[in-house]
Amino acid sequence: MDQYLVFGNPIVQSRSPYIHQAFALSTKQTLTYQSQLVALDEFSTTVKKFISDGGKGANVTVPFKEQALLLCEQLSDRAKQAGAVNTLSFKNGLIYGDNTDGLGLVQDLLRNKINLKGSSILILGAGGAAKGVILPLLEQHPSSIVIANRTISKAEKLCEQFENSKLSFCSFEQAIDHGFDIIINATSASLSGDVPPISTELINTNVICYDMVYGKQLTPFLSWAKQQGASHLIDGLGMLVGQAAESFAIWRNVKPEVETVIDELRRSLVNE
Ligand code: ATR
Repeated sequence: MDQYLVFGNPIVQSRSPYIHQAFALSTKQTLTYQSQLVALDEFSTTVKKFISDGGKGANVTVPFKEQALLLCEQLSDRAKQAGAVNTLSFKNGLIYGDNTDGLGLVQDLLRNKINLKGSSILILGAGGAAKGVILPLLEQHPSSIVIANRTISKAEKLCEQFENSKLSFCSFEQAIDHGFDIIINATSASLSGDVPPISTELINTNVICYDMVYGKQLTPFLSWAKQQGASHLIDGLGMLVGQAAESFAIWRNVKPEVETVIDELRRSLVNE
């Protein structure tokens, strides 16, 4: 049976085995998908062992996405631009790397019927999560993307890397009066219960607030946005399932339906 894994550290929290097994059932594919905890200094040897055991592909999560990029013999443009790989495929003796995180975000925004073409987007954060979504967002032809970050030099560096006239950067405090249609929180601030200090004036009933993080309750950013009057609030659960669907499609040549899996995960989160 074709074998797939997700490698990470920590890994117990990973929902990927559940998601991929659900996809396999719905698309009638015969495969196994499990999670594997990898010691911090053993990523490369662990992947190579999995390949020699006949593994077909793997997802890579924190903290190995950059190491995965270095291991690949062929890379998609998305992975190159993101500087990180979350999907490995093993074919003809070669390791192929792709990054489906940004596609997962775009797919989830479109699934939520959000118009990206011509839209004005504010991305909060300039770390790995932000970097991975910029190219797929640009491919949707927004009118502009502003990257705001606590450390402004990192936002500047990220902008320079893409060399695209639609991209600009600023500090959180400078992100004002732009009439943003969509604000995407790509910082890890939610994980420590913080909210990026952007102006409350950016929030109104029309603006879409998206947090790449998800949880049982509204994330700190979405909860703050709601208090300021935002009514379109979306967390990252759909992005998680969306990136998994794109990985599955790379491996199996069939795109699974995401809606049911998102609903089931949401129910299980609420009941946890
Ligand atoms: P990830 O891969 O999740 O993006 P990362 O590369 O470490 O992780 O980047 C974390 C991002 O969250 C950065 O943009 C970071 O801001 P700095 O570049 O100034 O460090 C941002 N971040 C983390 N904690 C934050 C907080 N409490 N408030 C605002 N931004 C925060």
